Amino acid sequence: QRSEAEVVMISVSSYACQRRTSLINHNAVLTDALSLLPHNAELNEDEGRGLAFRRAAAVLKFLPEPVTTTTPLRGLPCLGEHSLRVIEDILQDGASREVESTKRSERFKALKVLNGIFGVGVKTADRWIRAGIRYLQPLQGSGETLSRAQRAGLRYYDDLNQPVSRAEADAVGEIVEKAAVSVLPGARMTLIGGFRRGKLTGHDVDFLLTHPEEGREEGLMPKVVSRLESEGFLLYQKTTRNSYLESEDGPARSSSSMDRFQKCFSIFKLSRGEEGGAEQTGNGESLTPSGQEAWRAVRVDLVVSPVSQSAFALLGWTGSKLFEREMRRWARREKAMSLSSHALYDTRQRRYLRASSEEEIFALLGLEFIPPSERNA
Ligand code: GTP
Ligand code: MN
Ligand code: MN
Repeated sequence: QRSEAEVVMISVSSYACQRRTSLINHNAVLTDALSLLPHNAELNEDEGRGLAFRRAAAVLKFLPEPVTTTTPLRGLPCLGEHSLRVIEDILQDGASREVESTKRSERFKALKVLNGIFGVGVKTADRWIRAGIRYLQPLQGSGETLSRAQRAGLRYYDDLNQPVSRAEADAVGEIVEKAAVSVLPGARMTLIGGFRRGKLTGHDVDFLLTHPEEGREEGLMPKVVSRLESEGFLLYQKTTRNSYLESEDGPARSSSSMDRFQKCFSIFKLSRGEEGGAEQTGNGESLTPSGQEAWRAVRVDLVVSPVSQSAFALLGWTGSKLFEREMRRWARREKAMSLSSHALYDTRQRRYLRASSEEEIFALLGLEFIPPSERNA
């Protein structure tokens, strides 16, 4: 048993990108509670406070053992009075009154339901709640105009709120890779997002596509998408042309004439029980022997990057979101650099810094390399 004094000795950086955060969380009870509060804060347009709770939860995730009292926490970064009060309540009474009353509130329950619809952000959910819409059924009859994404989100609501397994992620990967290579020989696919960090389940599956020869990746996204579409794998897709151009006078700038970095937010139709063997049923009506539908809907994100930017894309899309955010904060505040999923710009030298691997990007930022499995902040 470690004494309190020893716990204090652990030095904890205030930047999540300087901490190794594995998937093992010794303080899940506390972090689960704290992670409810950002939603509430952000809903009330308090982004800063929301981020403060996320940072506090991330520090607890990093600790090597369960917290039993708040005393040793007082010396740690990112744990403000509000977070400490919540932690203290849970340690003393088994629950935090603020968290429990949030969970019970109609507003929060409605937010969870509505925000669980693909294509619905907190702002839209908030507007609907104000209009008295709290569940899916009333929404459908409300006369609210729904976007194409939201209509798909409603149609596949149950499936999309079921976690995606690693086996399902791999099955999607096989399908995507096959499609990519068939429309562009030599194309390369990498699993990114939470699964790259070692997570066993995810809310979606994320892939990065590139080609070792610069420029060959141009136009890859529409080709992959129409290939997947013709094979009947896509229930929904929206491709965005993410235009990006390096410029002499600053970092990430856009140009409509140069669309090389593209994203596709999609919903896949994935056969059940065929994880690992990427085969297609073709017939959506059939049932498996256990009476389940023969396929399920899975959210899939695709990104295409030119190889010259692929290290930045890989780093930027591996997450976690907080880890990425903290890396950009570190770059800006400590190094006067601007980091994006495309490039690293040095403000003092007024130039872009090249990198062909994640390791190089960490080194350019003066950070110790943290592997994906330890970016679970
Ligand atoms: P689960 O999907 O819930 O398992 O977690 P995840 O970490 O994979 O989350 P998500 O798929 O939402 O995002 C993966 C990474 O991609 C995160 O680091 C995000 O910051 C990044 N990301 C997501 N959407 C965008 C986007 O529109 N643009 C950019 N540049 N990055 C994004
Ligand atoms: Mn993901
Ligand atoms: Mn995603």
